[in-house]
Amino acid sequence: MKAIAKAPGKAILTGEHFVVYDQPALVMAIDRFISVTVAKRPDTSIRISSTLGYTGTFEGEKFHSEQGGGAAQRILTPVHISASAVLDAVNYRCGLNINVDSEIPVEVGLGSSGALAVATVSAVGRLFDIAFSEPEVVNLSLEAERYVHNNPSGVDQTVSTYGGVIQYRKNQSAIRLEVESPLSLVIGNTGVRRETGRLVDSVRARRTRIPDVMDRVIRSAGVLTTKAVDALKSGNVSLLGELMDVNHGLLVAAGVSSIELDRLVHAARSGGALGAKLTGAGGGGCVLALVPDERQDTVSRAIQDADGVPIKVNKMEGGVHSWINE
Ligand code: MEV
Repeated sequence: MKAIAKAPGKAILTGEHFVVYDQPALVMAIDRFISVTVAKRPDTSIRISSTLGYTGTFEGEKFHSEQGGGAAQRILTPVHISASAVLDAVNYRCGLNINVDSEIPVEVGLGSSGALAVATVSAVGRLFDIAFSEPEVVNLSLEAERYVHNNPSGVDQTVSTYGGVIQYRKNQSAIRLEVESPLSLVIGNTGVRRETGRLVDSVRARRTRIPDVMDRVIRSAGVLTTKAVDALKSGNVSLLGELMDVNHGLLVAAGVSSIELDRLVHAARSGGALGAKLTGAGGGGCVLALVPDERQDTVSRAIQDADGVPIKVNKMEGGVHSWINE
């Protein structure tokens, strides 16, 4: 018997980083997924294999890499943590074979680690015939994110669990927004991978050095997200675009942009985007451009001409779901 769970990635429309400091964020589940398949095995080890080219086995705390060299342990440890969190919660010890199938590029800000944790928790829960509630899935999947950085806001895990468009604030219930107007978005991937934890640490360090400046930036970002939510609710997409532009400026002030990201942001705007900003932790990874429907191709070409890889994404209404395959 196998249990399978499929979870969507995410794109943050406004508020990344500042959400760590209790400000709201506006985030959307996207139609790119991670699937996790789990089966019991007769021993107590956990073998994890990912289509991204990493395979290895955890025996207790020991790790044996089979594919992907030294990076395998770093990439696969969060899966091990998520699976172990569920085994602890159900108070059961057994070995597991876990297969990860991902169409979300890793470490570029599209929520691959959040979706991976959420899908792992749901699949292992389903294997033991437990349908965790949404808050339980978020809580259990946060264990793995603490390995990535020690103060996760939970925004990625929440949107991957619930799906749709969400107004999120740390330690508060997520507010799902019913969005009438279709949002036409193009992502531009710089192809530069980066580690979320380091970028979160760098923002914290800047805030420690210049708290009176950074606290104002952080508070402005909170106001900005509130206005972005209103713009979205009233269908004012050009205002939403403008707010995304300003949000990019605040992220530059926080020190998490890069030459490659700035280049793609400017290319998207020149191509006719209503607004563009880095999305996720920054430092590399992706930009997100809000575009009028008829300019999707022009903006995609502009991103390509500026050495980025364009990805057209759509809103995903549903969050994680799981099932049994006999
Ligand atoms: C990463 O997708 C979002 C960050 O705000 C970190 C977090 O919220 O935990 C950078």
